[in-house]
Parts: sequence; structure tokens; C-alpha cells
Amino acid sequence: MSYQSPALNVMIAAARKAGRPLVRDFGELENLQISMKGPADFVTSADKRTEKILIDELSHARPNYGFLAEECGAIEGKDKSHRFIIDPIDGTTNFMHGVPHFAISIGLEREGQLVNGVIYNPVTDDLYFAEKNHGAYLNNKRLRVTARKEMAPSLFATGMPFLGKEGHARASAEIAAVTSVSSGIRRFGAASLDLAYVAAGRFDGFWERGLQPWDVAAGIVLLREAGGMVTDMHGGTDMLTGGTILCANENLHPQLLKLLKGVTA
Ligand code: IPD
Ligand code: CA
Repeated sequence: MSYQSPALNVMIAAARKAGRPLVRDFGELENLQISMKGPADFVTSADKRTEKILIDELSHARPNYGFLAEECGAIEGKDKSHRFIIDPIDGTTNFMHGVPHFAISIGLEREGQLVNGVIYNPVTDDLYFAEKNHGAYLNNKRLRVTARKEMAPSLFATGMPFLGKEGHARASAEIAAVTSVSSGIRRFGAASLDLAYVAAGRFDGFWERGLQPWDVAAGIVLLREAGGMVTDMHGGTDMLTGGTILCANENLHPQLLKLLKGVTA
């Protein structure tokens, strides 16, 4: 049976509450695809509304905690030792295109340490959660990273830059380096779920550059609690604010890190 502290319960309840209207919005997108304006404005308002529900619910239960959220940025709390880190819709492009692969992501930091993570895909109703020292779960199933030792049978995930972002040539070179020694790469478009999939043993590893704290906060807790190794792309610990992340099981992490460090583009 999974252990859920009061704080984790609060986070799960908030994610579920915010997820319900998001599923309704997702259902309505089909009609919007054909409208002149397109779905962009609609998605922006869904994003903002989801974030508001999350902040309202969380601050009702924990009035003094601070926030760092994608839409509204940093909100100082009276309690300086706790902060929720929120992405209301991670995988916005998928959402906008009617692809049911996106998630609400909520991390909780205590004294600067990530202690809880919740990643919820409201369409599939998959709820990933983790608490420091108490394991990682998908619904009620305990999660564990894969045990593979070799690159050849391993499946990796990454994220690539798109219009308006930097680093296209380097991303292509990294993908070439990894595809040529592994079973391949997936690009599913929601970093939080990529991290959750590594924790769940679906992917053997994941890396990405150009990420924000809210993309990875919850997933970092999941990863660690599922027995995985997670660092930045220099092998250091700055994956929350440094913009890069690399994770895998303890056998593959050093191999993937070495391979990607050697890529020049
Ligand atoms: C994005 C997703 C995507 C990743 C991007 C992120 P958003 O978050 O996590 O997988 O490649 O770098 O910005 O914008 O959909 O919340
Ligand atoms: Ca995101």
C-alpha cells in the first residue's frame, strides 16, 4: 500500500480537481480546430484557469506556502521553507493538437529539497506520485526504473527545441549519437511524463535541454524514489534551475552522460 502524507494528499486532491475541467476543455478542442482563430487562445485560458484552481486549492490547505508556477511566476509565502512548483499543463502543444499526452505537474520543496511530486494525466486518469523516502507509484502500483545495463536494448526519450528555441543542431547530433547505439528514441512532448515513464520502467532514460523548474520538479522526486539517477547534463545537481536534465538507471546513467558529453555540434 502506498504511503501518502497529508501534504501529498493535498497535492493529489488539487491535481484531480483541476483535471476535471481540463478534460472537458480537451473534449471541446475538436470543435475549435476548425474555427478561424484556432485553439491557441482557448488553450491559454485553460492553462491559466488550471493554474488558478491549483493555487486556490493548495493555498486553501497550506495558506503560508510559496509558489513557483509557469503562468504567474513566483509567489512568496510567509513560510519560507515550503514552496509548490507547478506546471498547469505540461505538454501544451499536445493538448492543443488533441493529443492526450499532457499532465498537471506539482512538486513540493521543503528547506530547498524536493520532497513530493504529483504528475497527473487527467485524460488517461494516470496519477503518478512520490514522497521522499516512501517510494514512487502509478495509481497504486510501486514504480521501479529498468535494470538494463547495456545501451543496445535500451529505449530513450528526449525533448527537442522547436520554432523560436535554440540548439537545433546540437539536439540533432545528440539524437544521432544515441539512436546509433540504442533501441531508439521517443519524443512524446511532455517532460514531466517523460520523467514519469523512466520512473515506471517504460523508458530506460531521458535527457533534455532548455527546461524550466516546473517541467521537472515533480518528476525528479518520482525518479529518485523509483531508484533512478538524475543529474543535470554536466553530471551535477543543478537540474531544477540549470535548464538541463539527464536520468536513467544507475548502470545507464554514466553511459548516457558520457556519450552526450562527447557530442559536439
Ligand atoms: C514543454 C514540454 C515539452 C518540452 C518543452 C517544455 P509545456 O512544456 O515539457 O516536452 O520539450 O521544453 O517547454 O510548454 O508544454 O508546458
Ligand atoms: Ca512544461
